[in-house]
Amino acid sequence: MIASATAVAHANIALVKYWGKRDASLNLPATGSISLTLEALATTTTVRFDEHHSTDAMTLGARAASPKELAGLAPCLQALRAVAAATPSSAHMATWGAQIETQNNFPTAAGLASSASGYAALVTAAAAALALPLSAAQRSAIARLGSGSAARSIFGGLVRLHAGTRADGADCMAEPMANQAFAKTLAMVIVEVGGDAAKAHASRDAMEHCRLTSPYYGAWVDAARADLLAAEAAIAASDLPALGELAEANALAMHAAAIASRPAIIYWQPTTLTVLREVHELRRRGLHAWATMDAGPHVKVLTIPSEAARIAAALAPIAGVSRTTISGVGGEAVVTP
Ligand code: PMV
Repeated sequence: MIASATAVAHANIALVKYWGKRDASLNLPATGSISLTLEALATTTTVRFDEHHSTDAMTLGARAASPKELAGLAPCLQALRAVAAATPSSAHMATWGAQIETQNNFPTAAGLASSASGYAALVTAAAAALALPLSAAQRSAIARLGSGSAARSIFGGLVRLHAGTRADGADCMAEPMANQAFAKTLAMVIVEVGGDAAKAHASRDAMEHCRLTSPYYGAWVDAARADLLAAEAAIAASDLPALGELAEANALAMHAAAIASRPAIIYWQPTTLTVLREVHELRRRGLHAWATMDAGPHVKVLTIPSEAARIAAALAPIAGVSRTTISGVGGEAVVTP
């Protein structure tokens, strides 16, 4: 017998970043984070549990997953199988091997949040295939075992991930923020720098290296906690300039802490800085444009839908920019028919 389901999840970009863990083995973040889910960056994943297979296998587009990528799935699949084993109607499937087919409509592992949409789609598809009685919050907590940002991609719009305080991580999950009407007024311009090459330092290892060696890590954590409160207030007030200023400062603080690691973690390329300066120039000219950067050289510009095309047109001609994508706000992870 085979139990199969397909799900679509969207990437998200953090406006207040998660960078550093309070527990590495349970993948618990040191601080909360706030993100915007992006409609244009999607992962579609089909999971087939097959009683004739005892091992798990995955393809990403046309290629087979590497052993490291497969190992990354293990915590999520283990958690889902534990729920299946405890659910009488699903228990018979708890030992079946999973065949996973996943497809991104954007470059994998290039600092474009592929792990976020990837794990969110995987958990949503697998939970449906196994017919597990899981709420979105419970799927979020399981997706977090794969990657912290994945906990946020279970939901659409503006999303808050809570760091939680419990040692077992049971209170570490994301939820949609209250002011989703404000989320609908936002857009993002994704400015890819330097082609589709995979990033030099995976975020998971890099943030741990930063925690252990950067003299600015503690200051980053303090700043992130204050930024979270301020961003919550800005979102509640639908105050885009306040949120944009905060998001840009927060990303720069995260990168400053990473750059101060020993040895340094420098994600930026010269083009990254050129784009940043142009974003400042666009803002000086009165546009709504604030930059954020993750574990890669790309720049994402927070803006409003009516100005996104103008911003993309201003940034696309910069030498070293390989592609610009305009995205509206994405919805929650869903099972497709
Ligand atoms: O969840 P991970 O391991 O992909 O790490 C996410 C790290 C950042 O993208 C840099 C920040 C964030 O909150 O998404």
